[in-house]
Amino acid sequence: MQFADRLNNVETSAIRELFKLLGKPGIISFAGGFPDPAMFDVEGLKEASANALTEEPGPALQYGATEGYQPLRDQLSTYMATKGATVAANELIVTTGSQQALDLLGKTMISPGDKVIVEGPTFLATIQCFRLYGAELISAPIDAHGVKTDELEKLIAEHKPKFVYLIPTFGNPSGAMLSLERRKKVLELAVKYNTLIVEDDPYGDLYFHAAPPPSILSLSKDVPGSRDLIAYCGSLSKVLSPGLRVGWMIAQPELLAKATMCKQFSDAHTSTFAQATASQYLKLGRLPAQLAIVRKVYAERA
Ligand SMILES: Cc1ncc(COP(=O)(O)O)c(C=O)c1O
Repeated sequence: MQFADRLNNVETSAIRELFKLLGKPGIISFAGGFPDPAMFDVEGLKEASANALTEEPGPALQYGATEGYQPLRDQLSTYMATKGATVAANELIVTTGSQQALDLLGKTMISPGDKVIVEGPTFLATIQCFRLYGAELISAPIDAHGVKTDELEKLIAEHKPKFVYLIPTFGNPSGAMLSLERRKKVLELAVKYNTLIVEDDPYGDLYFHAAPPPSILSLSKDVPGSRDLIAYCGSLSKVLSPGLRVGWMIAQPELLAKATMCKQFSDAHTSTFAQATASQYLKLGRLPAQLAIVRKVYAERA
């Protein structure tokens, strides 16, 4: 077969290959960010999916808007507010996992040869995804407090990247936590160099003791001109269920519109049944208690 040239720079992820070992007895794999299935709130999800089918069978089973199921968008806006970020429902779209948000960012922003700065090391699936669109990835060094902002500034000035991709809160795979001071510095760099910052935040709610510093997105209100330069990816995968494939993306209107257009071509919309189930779950109000359990159990294990 003569495959597309864009596949020349990517290979199947070694981590996905390792997933195959997960079923084997005696193996606890830390290779992927898999929640413990024993932590899934099965009762809550049973109730939520039943409610979706009884209360809103039409919208739950019909085609839906590419931007996402409106009640869920409203709830995600409220959820972001609880985390300190003011985001109107129309400033976010629901995506098929945050992985799709990353893919849409790649599709909308990256032309072959464009440079993208990532942390070294960073999430493998993102590397593969951005490479698929022809990005040349530049690695910015990190320490326990996340990306070294002095080094980041030098790299931005030198390479003029299309954007900078960061996992500021519990970096994957580093576990690094970007300090508050550096978060502010990143926002200042975004403005100074007019550079888009992608904040990938699937793990922010899974802290064990003290809450992590506020997201870069929520801190953008303190740095004039920075808000439109932040694209934020969120996910219900690590706190509720990755199988639901419900994530979201927050970005300024023009970028969000382009990403929505690209999403139309890829999957039309995220599963309406999954979205209605997620929405009903959030309506049941079980997430805070669920988070408390998960934090406690994972803290003990850590
Ligand atoms: C840093 C990071 N971003 C994004 C994802 C994708 O998560 P999902 O597509 O399930 O929301 C993961 C999953 O492991 C991750 O670790």
